[in-house]
Amino acid sequence: MTFFAHLAFVHQSALDPAGEHARAIARLWDVFLGITTVIYVLVMIALVVGLLRKREGDASRNPRSTYVIVSIAGGLTVVILFGLLIASIFTGRAIAERPKNAIGITLRGKQWWWQVEYEAAHPSNRILSANELTIPVGVPVTLHLHSSDVIHSFWVPGLHGKRDLIPGHDGSITLLAEKPGVYRGQCAEFCGVQHAKMALWVNAVSPSDYARWADAERTPARAPQTEAEIAGQQVFLRAPCPLCHAIRGTDASGSTAPDLTHLATRRSLGAGALPNTREALGGWIVDAQRAKPGCQMPSINLRPDELSALVDYLGSLR
Ligand code: CUA
Repeated sequence: MTFFAHLAFVHQSALDPAGEHARAIARLWDVFLGITTVIYVLVMIALVVGLLRKREGDASRNPRSTYVIVSIAGGLTVVILFGLLIASIFTGRAIAERPKNAIGITLRGKQWWWQVEYEAAHPSNRILSANELTIPVGVPVTLHLHSSDVIHSFWVPGLHGKRDLIPGHDGSITLLAEKPGVYRGQCAEFCGVQHAKMALWVNAVSPSDYARWADAERTPARAPQTEAEIAGQQVFLRAPCPLCHAIRGTDASGSTAPDLTHLATRRSLGAGALPNTREALGGWIVDAQRAKPGCQMPSINLRPDELSALVDYLGSLR
């Protein structure tokens, strides 16, 4: 991975907003930080002045003036807290808007990965993917959030705040990316031993690139071309892989694990556990528990030539 590709792999920041919702939250943060910093500095100055006076044995101050100062400070505290409350309410209202013309995506949190399903009127137009969203810049995208097991939390700090995925309680969140880029996110609610390896990425691209991407994503998997890829497909179909994974265009139609139809276009393996490289993919197949202990992916016993062919095939699924 190049340095910049690596940055996109790891960088995420609520203070680097790229969407209107994240910007509203960052602005609220600035207001809180500014006001509380001023208060902190004033309190520290008052503390130092008080300590110096006490040391100098200044007994000139009478109890009445102390009472007045404390009353003024108490009153100001109430006013400031009320102001911050009003600012929070306005921010909450600003980011709660749900536009009607949004692209709909169903996002399912699972231990420990994200199933991504682009909603479409016709089932053949659905797009099924994992751990990565591609969205058009300037177009609202509403994620319908579900959990298949425990409570997870969707958080892509560059685009929006957190929203929990609660079993049996469907929620939603609307994103609007203002500029193209890759925005990393992660599960923000402890959900088991691999909670830390439950990352996802949002690729914001131009609307024309989005249309191209969606067309490519809807097509079935590319047929194997080379001898190794053909052998690799046979290995895949004979191994236990199809019990859990689907590759559209083949007999593999498992639905409990990520759809692999366009696996090679993705950035990571195991929801951010590993970069999606040939070496990492081979290691992941034979011993996923090493990179992500406790995950559902079992170790697959393969001969070296079988593994090589399988990795060739999976690596060709663009
Ligand atoms: Cu899912 Cu933490």
